[in-house]
Amino acid sequence: MASIQQSAPTNRGQWTGRVGFILAAAGSAIGLGNIWRFPYSVAEGGGGLFVIIYLFFVLAIGLPVLLAELSVGRTSQRNPVGAFKALMPGKIWPYVGGLGVLTGACILAFYSVIAGWTLGYLGKAVSGTLVAAQDGEASGAIFTAFVADPLWPILLSGLFLLITLFVVRGGVAKGIERATTLLMPALFVLLLALAARAITLPNGMDGLTYLFTPDWSKLSLNVVMGALGQALFSLSLGMGAMITYGSYASRRENLWQSGLYIAVADTGIALLAGLIIFPTLFFAGAETAAGPGLVFVVLPTIFNQMPLGTVFAVAFFSLLAIAALTSTVSLLEVAVSYFVDEKGWSRTQAASAISFFCFALAVPSALAFGAVPALSGGENSILPFNLDFLTLNNNIWGNYSLSIGAILICIGVAWVWGIPKFLSALEAGENRTFPMPGREIVGLLIKIICPLAILTVFIFILVTGRYF
Ligand code: PFF
Repeated sequence: MASIQQSAPTNRGQWTGRVGFILAAAGSAIGLGNIWRFPYSVAEGGGGLFVIIYLFFVLAIGLPVLLAELSVGRTSQRNPVGAFKALMPGKIWPYVGGLGVLTGACILAFYSVIAGWTLGYLGKAVSGTLVAAQDGEASGAIFTAFVADPLWPILLSGLFLLITLFVVRGGVAKGIERATTLLMPALFVLLLALAARAITLPNGMDGLTYLFTPDWSKLSLNVVMGALGQALFSLSLGMGAMITYGSYASRRENLWQSGLYIAVADTGIALLAGLIIFPTLFFAGAETAAGPGLVFVVLPTIFNQMPLGTVFAVAFFSLLAIAALTSTVSLLEVAVSYFVDEKGWSRTQAASAISFFCFALAVPSALAFGAVPALSGGENSILPFNLDFLTLNNNIWGNYSLSIGAILICIGVAWVWGIPKFLSALEAGENRTFPMPGREIVGLLIKIICPLAILTVFIFILVTGRYF
C-alpha cells in the first residue's frame, strides 16, 4: 500500500471534509434515478413486489458493492482504470474500469435528455401552464406535446450537458462539493411536504397500498433484473463512480459509516418519491402515464391541488434539476478522471470532449418520443424489442452494464485484491465510535453472495431469452 501512496498522482483534488464527501456521494446517488426512474420501474414491475425485491438488492448487493467501490477508490487514489491497475495484477482488470468509463458516458447521454426535460418543465412551471393541468389527461397532453418536439429536448439536453461541464471543470472541492451541500436538505424538505399532500388526496391511500403490497403473481425475470439494475443505478454503482468519489476521500474517512449514510439517504429519497407519485397517480387516474413520462405526467396534478401550487412546482423542478446535476457531474467525472489521470489531458479538455460525445449520443434519445417514429418504440420502431432509443439505452447501460460491472468489481475485490485488504481498507480511518457490525458478513456478501446472485439472474435471462 505504501508504494501506491507514494506513486498516487498528486493534485487530483480532495473533498474538504467528511460532510463534503458524504454529501457529494449522496448527491451522485440521489438524482433522476430516485424521482424519475424508480417510480416508473415500480409501475412496470407491479408495485410492491418490485419495491421489496429492490430493497432486498440494496441491502444484499448495493451496500456491499458501495463499500467495495469506496475502498478501492480511497486505497488506490485513482480513477477506475488506474485503481484496478494499481490494486489488481493481471491485464484484464483495467478493462473493467474501462467498461465503467464507457458506461458512464452512455448513461450520461440519455440521462441528460431527462435532465433537459426537467429544465423544460421548470419553464412550464414558471409560466403557470403546468399548474393549470387538472387531471392526468390534461397533463399527459402537455407531456406528449413537449417530448415530441424535434428541437427543444435536444437543446435542453445540450444545455444540461453544458452546465455539467461547467461544474466538472471547476474541480472536486470547488465545483462538485459546493453544488451539493445546500441542495440535499432542501430537496428532502420539499419532498416531505409533497408526500404529505399526496397521501391526503382522495384515493391517496390506494397508492400506498399499491406501493407496499406485493403481488407475487407478477414475479418475473424482468422484474428481478429491473430491481437489481435499479438498486445499482440508484446508488451509482457498477461503473466506478463511487471508486472515483472514494478516491477523493481522505484517509481519515470512516467508509463504512459514510457508505451507510449514503445508502440510507438514497433509498429514503426513492421511497419518498414513491409516496408522492403513487397516491397522486391514483388520485389523478393518469392511465396514460406509463413509462418514462410517469413523473412528468403525474406531478403537475398535485401542484394543481395545492395552495401556492406554482411556487411548489417551481421549487420542485429547480431542485430536481439540481439533483440531476449532482448526478450528471459524477457521471462525467468518472470519464474525466480517467483521461486526466491516465492520458494526461487537462480537466477542461477531457470534460469538453466527453460532453460532446455524450451530446451526439443524446440526440437520438431526445428524438425518441415521437419526433422520429423509427426511434420512438412501438410498431414503427427499427430497434430491438420495439423499444424506444432511450429505454433501450437505459436497459443496456443502466441495468445490464452496471450489473456486469458490479459482478466484476466483486470478483476483483474479493478474489484478486483479497477480502482482508478490503476489510482493513474499509475500517481504516478515524471515528471508531461507529463500529462496523458483521464484518464477516460483508466479506461473505462480496465474495460469494453478490456475484452468485447477479450471475444467477444473468443465467436465467440467457436461458429464457427474455432480455427486457
Ligand atoms: N445514481 C444516479 C441517480 O439515481 O440518478 C444516477 C447515476 C449516477 C448512475 C452515477 C450511475 C452513476 F455512476
